[in-house]
Amino acid sequence: MRYFEVRFILSEIEGLNEILQSDLCDIGFESFQDTEDGFLAYCQEDLYDEMKIKDVVINFIDNNPNITISTEAIIIEEQNWNEEWEKAYPAVLIDDYCYVHAPFHEPMENVPFNIEISPKMSFGTAHHPTTYQILQFLKNEDVKGKDVMDMGSGTGVLAILAKLKEANYVEAIDNDSWAYENALENVERNNVDVVVKLGDANTLDRNYDVFIANINRNILLQDMEKYSSHIKPSGVLFLSGFYTPDVDILVNEVKKYGFVLEKQLTKENWAALRLVKN
Ligand SMILES: C[S@@+](CC[C@H](N)C(=O)[O-])C[C@H]1O[C@@H](n2cnc3c(N)ncnc32)[C@H](O)[C@@H]1O
Repeated sequence: MRYFEVRFILSEIEGLNEILQSDLCDIGFESFQDTEDGFLAYCQEDLYDEMKIKDVVINFIDNNPNITISTEAIIIEEQNWNEEWEKAYPAVLIDDYCYVHAPFHEPMENVPFNIEISPKMSFGTAHHPTTYQILQFLKNEDVKGKDVMDMGSGTGVLAILAKLKEANYVEAIDNDSWAYENALENVERNNVDVVVKLGDANTLDRNYDVFIANINRNILLQDMEKYSSHIKPSGVLFLSGFYTPDVDILVNEVKKYGFVLEKQLTKENWAALRLVKN
């Protein structure tokens, strides 16, 4: 799949990048990279819609009349993207317990879990706060013997860690075919038994003790009822992929299905939640 890269140049960036990025998440943008005068935003080719971007910008300027914004979009070929980002891909150590690295890095000694990830076009290398925080949560989660779902699995890194921590049955689902292929590859690389499926909430066909969903606010809200119906009583739900101002809206939604917020992590204004089903 090809991506669009849109360069946003703002006349003032202090505190404004994140607000604009949150609005762009709602229209399909998945990742962002801050620059000196704004940021770069990435969106899958089939989700790219110039009119929607214009609407977001106009709305933003209505609320921030002193700001000027210019945008410039280019299409990124798959191969270029892969090569560039793999070159720039440093390994990540999470709390001295899990080391996520590329095939061209040596594994780290004296760390309980090493995970080798070939990132390709998929999200999930542990650099992003949304992934990082779920990996942190999993440090203290006893998943041994439990059934675990990784919804929106990207590279499959979260599912792989759950299986390395001796979960019973682990399944990874993603609706993007690149991510699906990549998770299959990473599962094999790490020699773990994880069932990988191409699909979404409608693909769920069993119930889980631990359900992880790192996607984005709108998909989580849209699919929460389905997720909930596949989580066992007393099951644990980990949510990630949204900014801290969206925490209340998500917590209010999951309350409808009997979940109680037990812990929140925050990193660079991204929130991650651990909730328990009554
Ligand atoms: C933020 S990434 C998370 C990847 C990985 N789990 C991690 O923690 O790094 C979100 C992933 O969800 C997938 N996705 C988007 N919408 C989805 C949906 N409706 N159902 C399942 N997966 C979806 C995307 O393709 C992407 O790989």
